[in-house]
Amino acid sequence: MEQEARRLGAKDISGVIFLTLADIRREMDDCQTCGLGRGRRNLVFGEGDEAARLMLIGEGPGADEDRLGRPFVGAAGQLLDRILAAVDITREEVYIANVVKCRPPGNRTPSPAEAGACLPWLFRQLETIRPAVIVLLGATAFKYLIGGTTGITVVRGKWLTTKSGIAVMPTYHPAALLRNPGWKKPVWEDFQQVRDRYNDVIDPTPKGGGLRRKLQGPAS
Ligand code: URA
Repeated sequence: MEQEARRLGAKDISGVIFLTLADIRREMDDCQTCGLGRGRRNLVFGEGDEAARLMLIGEGPGADEDRLGRPFVGAAGQLLDRILAAVDITREEVYIANVVKCRPPGNRTPSPAEAGACLPWLFRQLETIRPAVIVLLGATAFKYLIGGTTGITVVRGKWLTTKSGIAVMPTYHPAALLRNPGWKKPVWEDFQQVRDRYNDVIDPTPKGGGLRRKLQGPAS
């Protein structure tokens, strides 16, 4: 990894080597590791804040994403924007990526071989961004990031923790909400939990008075 990082021209600060997202993006520019590369108009790398504490991971680009080269910009993306807005989180402050970076034909679920070929890029993005909280949008993201055979309906809404201490919230994919409006309420509830955890990460001062009130000074 280190040799590869040096080959890519990664920064070397105090002996620590790290890749920027631009390095990773450049490296995968012509990726044809799986067959999806042949059919793409644009590779959808991901977008957002390189230092985001919250990362959202979906399945793969659809037609609109393929056309524009940006994640979650179609109907499901617009719903995701509304969900984020409802919990006071902006797209700019998070990072959004997918399990696969090229559109599966007809928006089918990526095959295990396609997901396996693309996941190393997502893991590099995770290494660079090092989020504190991850939201897994849908069954495909859950299957490839966490594993196991438990269905998304069972695991959604329950926090998981990775070995490296990242808090992970699985929830339904926004496209699934468009098909099943009855799932909107549970997703809203899941995102309220995400908002609370995220707020604790970005502002860890004790809640309910105490230090926070002292820092802000007396209420006027
Ligand atoms: N669905 C996804 O999983 N990802 C996108 O980027 C768009 C729709």
